[in-house]
Amino acid sequence: MSLLVGIVGAGPAGLLLARLLHRAGIDSVVFESRDREYVERRQRAGILEQATVDTLRAAGAADRLEREGIPHDGIDLVFDGAAHRVDFLGTTGARVWIYAQTEVVKDLIALRVADDLPLLFDTPVLALTDLDGRPTVHHAGGQVVCDYVVGADGFHGVTRGLVPGVVHERTFPYSWLGILADAPPVHHELVYAHSRRGFALASMRSPTVSRLYLQVPNGTEPWPDDEIWTELDHRLGDHHPQRGPITAKSVLPMRASVAETLRHGTLFLAGDAAHIVPPTGAKGLNLAAADVTLLAAAFDHLHRTGSPDLLDAYEHTALREIWRAEHFSHFMTTTLHLAPGQSEFDTQLQLAHLRHIVSSRAAATSLAENYTGTART
Ligand code: DHB
Repeated sequence: MSLLVGIVGAGPAGLLLARLLHRAGIDSVVFESRDREYVERRQRAGILEQATVDTLRAAGAADRLEREGIPHDGIDLVFDGAAHRVDFLGTTGARVWIYAQTEVVKDLIALRVADDLPLLFDTPVLALTDLDGRPTVHHAGGQVVCDYVVGADGFHGVTRGLVPGVVHERTFPYSWLGILADAPPVHHELVYAHSRRGFALASMRSPTVSRLYLQVPNGTEPWPDDEIWTELDHRLGDHHPQRGPITAKSVLPMRASVAETLRHGTLFLAGDAAHIVPPTGAKGLNLAAADVTLLAAAFDHLHRTGSPDLLDAYEHTALREIWRAEHFSHFMTTTLHLAPGQSEFDTQLQLAHLRHIVSSRAAATSLAENYTGTART
């Protein structure tokens, strides 16, 4: 049977789905409200799970990732001022890759453009109609009649409001101040630091570019550079950052959200339109990739056999993966951050948990399975 899938949003979820569908011989049109430059410049997380890398490889979209991605086989947890390694490869056989989301997006756009397939920038979707039949995507330049539509337009997009149902949400009483700096990474692997002054995370984008985050109170304005470096120095234990020019600074709120319903007729939600995870643990992009991997397999099954069984199962299957990632992200967040006014009892519970992780192979393996995404499959 012939199929046309409308995809709302050219972030990683929408672009990866379009690529996977193309490889399966299924047509799609991608609608994106912003311009290409804006989409390619958005700074997001930078960790790809093994499964995400495998999907990008299978999609023929991993050439630059193979050359420039940096494999990591573990992380450091810092608490009580000392660093402890958690081994991923040794405990799970899986690793993760440093490769920024914005680079994944650039690679997928380049492939779509090179294949001369429909990717409409500057094209906000004005309305979606006939969701119970052949869904029609209305935009300023006209309308496109599809067989299915996937809403991959993020938390602030139009599609999530079109799916009735409860959205379960949690906000956190702190934010992240994130910087990009022309400075070598603090350590060869990522450092997640619990400290009496609040959480800090030292990540990287390349051997010369650092990505660093500090827990700050909600509503904080970006701090002066000097204060940021001094605070990182206090929080990162023995890992002392080498300072360099800060090239980007922003404050990120932390939120968790899961839509209970991921489907309305022929409209399906994926990625941030369906769920938000707090950033600790870097699950957002990987969960979006997991959603569209399921959807692509379901559309492929429908296309080849005429059976909608996998599409019908999407919501149930995806929600199990989503809640696993929500639980892990929530655990990482609440174990590593200090809530305002937190009691010493709560801090001691956090420290007891962190000590357990680095002294029990079973506990370390559990963290590693979740971090690398092998717990979800
Ligand atoms: C990055 C972001 C995260 O939220 C995380 O847990 C690890 C790394 C990053 O931007 O590199």
